[in-house]
Amino acid sequence: MDRSIAVIDFGSQYTQIIVRRVREEGCFARLYQPSELRDTGSPSAVILSGGPRSTLEEDAPDIDFDYLKSLGVPVLGVCYGMQLLNRKFGGEVSPGHTREYGPATLVVQDESSLFEGIHTRSQIWMSHSDTCSRLPEGTRVLAENLDGIPVALEWCPGFQGIQFHPEVSHTKEGKAILANFLRLAVNPAKFRIASFKDHLIDRVRAQVGSRKVVCGVSGGVDSSVLAALLHESQVDTRNIFVDNGLLRKGEARQVEAQFRSIGIKIETIDASARFLEALAGVTDPEEKRRRIGRLFVQVFFDAVGKDVDMLAQGTLYPDVIESATSGSIASTIKTHHNRVDRIMELKAEGRVIEPLDELFKDEVRALGRTLGLSDEVVGRHPFPGPGLAVRCPGEITPDKLEIIREADAIFIGQLREQGWYDHVWQAYAGLIPVKTVGVKGDERSYEYAVTLRAVISEDAMTADWVRLPYDLLAEVSNRILNEVRGVNRVLYDISTKPPASIEWE
Ligand code: XMP
Repeated sequence: MDRSIAVIDFGSQYTQIIVRRVREEGCFARLYQPSELRDTGSPSAVILSGGPRSTLEEDAPDIDFDYLKSLGVPVLGVCYGMQLLNRKFGGEVSPGHTREYGPATLVVQDESSLFEGIHTRSQIWMSHSDTCSRLPEGTRVLAENLDGIPVALEWCPGFQGIQFHPEVSHTKEGKAILANFLRLAVNPAKFRIASFKDHLIDRVRAQVGSRKVVCGVSGGVDSSVLAALLHESQVDTRNIFVDNGLLRKGEARQVEAQFRSIGIKIETIDASARFLEALAGVTDPEEKRRRIGRLFVQVFFDAVGKDVDMLAQGTLYPDVIESATSGSIASTIKTHHNRVDRIMELKAEGRVIEPLDELFKDEVRALGRTLGLSDEVVGRHPFPGPGLAVRCPGEITPDKLEIIREADAIFIGQLREQGWYDHVWQAYAGLIPVKTVGVKGDERSYEYAVTLRAVISEDAMTADWVRLPYDLLAEVSNRILNEVRGVNRVLYDISTKPPASIEWE
């Protein structure tokens, strides 16, 4: 029997990355809360993640240890997970004297399959202050750091723990260490996108049957892949594209052409005037989002009328995880559309399908390729549902949108031309709605500033700004200042996320 790898989430910011890394190694992994251990079915291995808490706290997250042992599969505790296992086996954990945070050195002490092929000394990434101060009898210390603190333990065959994070890139040989652990997994379910596609098609057909599906498309990666998957599944689908007036330059026409070229019919509804009217005079970012979300649903359901058996949504795995676990601001934002009553009703009636809800963005891209979508479509940068509204702080007006569209087209055009587009996770031009002084001819002028943002990221949770060449930035800046009316300043945003976010609003 094929089985997945269960990753138990103790709340670390890196837990999702463990799931991704395991999948990158070709094994199917799913995330579970500690209380869901029994829902894991017959996992082929279990990974206990790190977490921000201390196992010494009274109400610290716990695990049903007897059940975990009864599974009879290999278990790897990472950081918090290692400390928890050490206590479960009868050892002790103490608050560390120094906070073990950042790079450290792994020094392999004893032979084990976990460190097979790993250098005797290797850079690792730590982020916890507690340490395993007393080890249960019979525990093998597989590795220590330079201070002699154990950073890898084996309590008994099949139960191992590491004090560092193998999933982050700062742990130089983390991938190999994880792969070594996965070799112990019992009949792991293989994860290959081409075969996963067949599984998704079967699931869509089973969920939909002979009913009619409506699907909102935006031209973005997720909804394009969703529409292509529905098409390939040969279920009866209507694809609706709402032009909300907050799209980029030429985007509505491009989206239509893109779908036409792969034989998928879409119905476009031009509702831009309604959206701009609804946004007139509104400056609060959340109020803008609310209005856009509400109107979108209204326009969409006006168009499909009562003709909805089922609604397809392009929800991805990180959205599912985030809304199930953290309740973070980001998840509130992204699930915003879901909160609208009509969709909630359909959900309650079991009439919403979310065929991509087990996939990460990169996997959705790979799926898109196997469905025959072009690199241009699957390689598109993410674009937010509320569109240019989140790049236009303050009141949204047609002239501000025009500035953003023109500046963005120049920036993105240059990134494509100079081969940078595919190396950047997301890029755009936004407007800073402050008029500052400049000179035009002999006169002083007061005009807006444009901000350029280009980031690399893993699923938008964190982001770093891209070190674009000065020459490219200079060219973009010159062109914007010369070609876009109403702008006298161009800035490049060099903020990381956190503390900044990717969008400006
Ligand atoms: P932030 O700005 O939160 O963005 O760092 C993270 C990612 O989410 C996108 N984003 C949104 N997407 N509705 C969306 O559908 C929104 O309201 C929204 N706000 C941000 C953003 O483009 C980035 O990819």
